[in-house]
Amino acid sequence: MHARWDHVNASEEGLTEQSQDKTAPMGLMFFHAKEGQPLSTPWQVATARSVMLAERSLAEGFLLDCACGSGLQLAAHASVLKRPMIGIELDPQRAQATAKNLQIVANHSRSLHAPWFEQSVVISGDGTHPKGALEVGGIELENPIALLHLDPARPRNSRTHGLEEMAPRLDDVFAAWAPYFAPHPRGPGLLLDLSPRLTPLQQKEVEGLVDAVWPNVERTWVWTSRGRGRVDRLALWLGTASKQGIARQFVRIPPTLGTQPMVLEASLEGLEEHQKINTLVHPPKRGEYVSILDAALLESGLMGVWLSRVSKEPMNRWASVEGRRPQLHHDKRLRLDGYDDEMLVQATGRVVELIRDPLDETGIDRIVEIAIENNMSAVTLRLNITPELHPRMQGSLDRQLARRHGGREGFLARHPIEDVLLLCVCESDSKN
Ligand SMILES: C[S@@+](CC[C@H](N)C(=O)[O-])C[C@H]1O[C@@H](n2cnc3c(N)ncnc32)[C@H](O)[C@@H]1O
Repeated sequence: MHARWDHVNASEEGLTEQSQDKTAPMGLMFFHAKEGQPLSTPWQVATARSVMLAERSLAEGFLLDCACGSGLQLAAHASVLKRPMIGIELDPQRAQATAKNLQIVANHSRSLHAPWFEQSVVISGDGTHPKGALEVGGIELENPIALLHLDPARPRNSRTHGLEEMAPRLDDVFAAWAPYFAPHPRGPGLLLDLSPRLTPLQQKEVEGLVDAVWPNVERTWVWTSRGRGRVDRLALWLGTASKQGIARQFVRIPPTLGTQPMVLEASLEGLEEHQKINTLVHPPKRGEYVSILDAALLESGLMGVWLSRVSKEPMNRWASVEGRRPQLHHDKRLRLDGYDDEMLVQATGRVVELIRDPLDETGIDRIVEIAIENNMSAVTLRLNITPELHPRMQGSLDRQLARRHGGREGFLARHPIEDVLLLCVCESDSKN
């Protein structure tokens, strides 16, 4: 059974979970219900995606999310695109939270009397039964849907991230809603918000489900990261929501609110040209450069595309491609062009010493001496070391070097095969 929730006069009665989204402007407080908060899309990510969506030409019609949770992503789309939305959520309290959040967003953007807000509809019930939902919502148009956004629920402790675990299931949603899309030469518009842990094989499976309903519809895979080398979201943008000619994008959400995300992208051909990343370990060498780059960018498959922008040399001396610190060796410094590029570099510098002393209590004083001989005032550890030892070694470096008056900063990396530490100096406009 479907039921409609009045968003214009939405009440917060019974909604207990209210919180300030850390990524939203101060004062924009959202409601959640039934532990919906961890499921909801951070406001900064939601609006960044809505801005990207606003650059596409969608068909006329409603923005639908048929498993909308607390409705944050959908409300962001509606307010940025100024289009009415249909939010459907199985859990009635979460549907109520969606109605309330939609009102909060409209109020924040002074749109309480805007047609997109007034025409929006929030419904509780099963999102895979369009007929009942549209009837309850009073929507009589034959093909009312311009865009379907779907962020299915997943079991919290899932190991496999299997497609069959998603609720609602993608194939059920596709089959149910396919007849309701407004016609457009590029097909329907869909934005599938998926687990960042989907394997390449599972990504192909998703494409198989899409092709079974809309064969060969255009598609753009989008990896989104909020930093710390993590992929936070993996989404498939389809049809009118896809970016024409672009097979893949990497979107880095900056740490400061209000700053535009950086977007890297490639066509299928561009991906094929730049995708191959193999480890090719050379002996440790003084004078070469070591860069520790962004693990999420590497995971997105667009590292090669970015490297071709910041360097002219063949960048293939990958010392390590696993874990949080992908380490690349090269001959010339990276040509970083501003903040966007710098966000993708954990550290970059030139090797000034090869150190064979151990990084522990017995070797740290000698490492400090070498750093002082190299006129260094700070050395950051950029290597894998036990969580107990890390603060002790970093603390010792910080304390001992602070007493001296070196003029250069740098970092310590480890050669992947030989047991050698690489002391690297950051050059003036490259960061540590
Ligand atoms: C990951 S959450 C969506 C979060 C949302 N994107 C946001 O920004 O708040 C997925 C939601 O799907 C709902 N759901 C699961 N099966 C459903 C179904 N058959 N119909 C409607 N909603 C469903 C769950 O209750 C859950 O709230």
